[in-house]
Amino acid sequence: MVKVAVLGAAGGIGQPLSLLVKLNPIVDELALFDVVNVPGVGADLGHINSNSTTESFLPESKEDKTALANALKGSDIVIIPAGVPRKPGMTRDDLFNINASICQGLAEVIAKNSPKAFVLVISNPVNSTVPIFAETFKKAGTFDPKRLFGVTTLDIVRANTFISQLFPKETKPGDFNVNVVGGHSGETIVPLYSIGRTKKYYDELNEEQKKALIHRVQFGGDEVVQAKNGAGSATLSMAYAGYKLAESILKAVNGESNIVECTFLNLDSSIKGASEAKKLVNNSEFFSLPVLLGKNGIEEVKYEILNEVNSDEKKLLEVAIDQLSKNIEKGVAFATK
Ligand code: NAD
Ligand code: LMR
Repeated sequence: MVKVAVLGAAGGIGQPLSLLVKLNPIVDELALFDVVNVPGVGADLGHINSNSTTESFLPESKEDKTALANALKGSDIVIIPAGVPRKPGMTRDDLFNINASICQGLAEVIAKNSPKAFVLVISNPVNSTVPIFAETFKKAGTFDPKRLFGVTTLDIVRANTFISQLFPKETKPGDFNVNVVGGHSGETIVPLYSIGRTKKYYDELNEEQKKALIHRVQFGGDEVVQAKNGAGSATLSMAYAGYKLAESILKAVNGESNIVECTFLNLDSSIKGASEAKKLVNNSEFFSLPVLLGKNGIEEVKYEILNEVNSDEKKLLEVAIDQLSKNIEKGVAFATK
């Protein structure tokens, strides 16, 4: 039996993400939790004749934790797009004050009701909310770094699409799987175009084009925020990206081998390759890197790519590591205060 819970299921990301999960044939139970509107979303999705049952959970009051607890019980994967999105002129860090409390509250209930679940954090600012989940789980004594995933997949999706758009005759976005490392916010996002399949095309660009391409990946979220003009941030591309990571985890748990995805993870020494990675990123506690997935979640950090970066990427990494450390500290300080 595979149960997936989506927290924030009635939102802009939550609805299309829940639809994609609903269509996955190996999911048996889909639990939808939100603080508003979720019965309607559940009734709607519940009419789809895919393999899973659908149940929606709405708390009766702000104090009611039972609905969330019931949504979580027995969940194998918990995906979290709960929280407020950006408006034009805001940074992701501007969301911290509201989303930090939401994430901490959800983490406390997850620790009690689904301590073994794989937890996928979409809520921004990811660079700080993932440390909040980690610290809250540590306090509860349930933290397993192999099971906590900051969702940075949208950066990879964008990196693939944007380079392909520069070579429309020779390539399709699906040809690529760019390693995007670091964090999920502005200059903490570092696409490593000089490595792997993109190298051939990237080398053809002049310096100005390279800079513009990297800037577009780092600030791709702003394009959507501005185009939506006050109506939120990326939802459909994010639902696709979040589902892609969840699907890969489901496949790995089902025994498929060689599944590698980038994710923002805690570089805990219990994970193979994490200590080596940590040394290469100035001891950052968290970093997005490609990881090998297995039955128990993150099996191995594929840190070797950090030794392959060119001198420009090295400089980008230095900036990313410096900014990231402040974001991580902010999350840890909030959760441990
Ligand atoms: P939205 O406002 O459309 O939806 C958020 C949903 O969360 C709402 O339905 C709201 O009722 C719900 N919610 C609020 N508090 C809750 C709580 N305590 N428990 C459960 N649900 C709660 O926003 P959105 O566009 O879906 O974005 C959600 C979050 O995802 C934002 O923080 C946004 O910045 C982030 N995001 C992250 C990425 C990424 O790449 N990681 C990409 C896009 C958006
Ligand atoms: C994104 O990258 O689209 C998300 O993090 C949402 C945002 O605020 O840009």
